Amino acid sequence: MVSEMFDGRTLLVTGGTGSFGYRFVSQCLRLCNPKKIIVYSRDELKQFEMQQQFTHPAMRYFLGDVRDKHRLKAAMRDVDFVVHAAALKQVPAAEYNPNECIKTNINGAQNVIDACIENGVKRVIALSTDKAANPVNLYGATKLASDKLFVAANNISGAGGTRFAVVRYGNVVGSRGSVVPFYRQLLKQGKTPLPVTHEGMTRFWITLDQGVDFVVKNFQRMHGGEIFVPKIPSIRILDLVEAMSGVREHDIIGIRPGEKLHEVMLPEEMAHHSLEFEDHYVITPAIKFFDKSISYNVNKLNETGKPVGDKFEYNSGTNPHFLTVRELQELDRLTL
Ligand SMILES: NC(=O)c1ccc[n+]([C@@H]2O[C@H](COP(=O)([O-])OP(=O)(O)OC[C@H]3O[C@@H](n4cnc5c(N)ncnc54)[C@H](OP(=O)(O)O)[C@@H]3O)[C@@H](O)[C@H]2O)c1
Repeated sequence: MVSEMFDGRTLLVTGGTGSFGYRFVSQCLRLCNPKKIIVYSRDELKQFEMQQQFTHPAMRYFLGDVRDKHRLKAAMRDVDFVVHAAALKQVPAAEYNPNECIKTNINGAQNVIDACIENGVKRVIALSTDKAANPVNLYGATKLASDKLFVAANNISGAGGTRFAVVRYGNVVGSRGSVVPFYRQLLKQGKTPLPVTHEGMTRFWITLDQGVDFVVKNFQRMHGGEIFVPKIPSIRILDLVEAMSGVREHDIIGIRPGEKLHEVMLPEEMAHHSLEFEDHYVITPAIKFFDKSISYNVNKLNETGKPVGDKFEYNSGTNPHFLTVRELQELDRLTL
């Protein structure tokens, strides 16, 4: 990841103390030369720990909740680029506390949009998830609503105003609360065989570095209004079990509420307004913006995309690229 776009500029990351935020900050400090990076999140302990790790003079830490529009507006003064990563993202917690998830993931998204427009932020990328495509759980539904808010925000910001885009990807290897640290903990405690909800389960698989690189690249690519989807491999859950425990033996515990067998990043219903580029897809806005001159098939980096075809669906179960057990072991060794 190298982006001269960030040199001398001020960046703000909501949820900057999370898995994504941590890696984003670390990569930006290593490879770019930003004027300031503002981390915006609620928990003072996580910020304190991050401050011990990142002592660079460009770093700023703002305690605040994305539910608090006034605080967001103050934090975004003179900010050029925003990554919106703050979210409640545990599927079962969202099912049990739906309104809390709505307040953070939907109302919070609108607050971020309002604060960005009011402060004249140049470009904004909001992180989304495969669970937002044809959602079956509340977490996915709130992220879909958030995606819609960010896409439509380009219409409110006016010509020359803030540009908003969305990056949607699948399971991040090793992120907080995900399956790899969960399995690792069970293996450490000798709790085998590992639990599996369904033997046929597949998932999209991306590393944090790939996720960060993709977000940074899309700041350069975006016109505004795109949902960017990276081409990434899938995994089969039993291959992961074998890669981590050395055997395919497992315990079936049954599909959890709100869990899918396969994830979708680009639903067939959106194929007619989606484009394929060399290493990613773009879902273009279903609505027409006031600026009709935008041609999404050529992005700001002059890369060219072509229509995906009406029957196309990007699904973790039919993805042509699956990681092998050996590749999963290698990835595990490198990323954790
Ligand atoms: N991890 C994955 O596998 C994955 C996959 C696809 C998409 N995504 C998306 O990527 C984004 C980042 O995920 P992540 O893995 O980095 O999550 P994470 O590790 O759980 O971090 C979430 C961050 O958001 C902050 N936060 C939560 N609620 C907040 C609020 N109301 N106001 C301000 N900050 C708040 C948290 O800090 P405090 O608790 O201190 O506020 C933390 O810094 C999310 O939008 C998620 O939906 C993640």
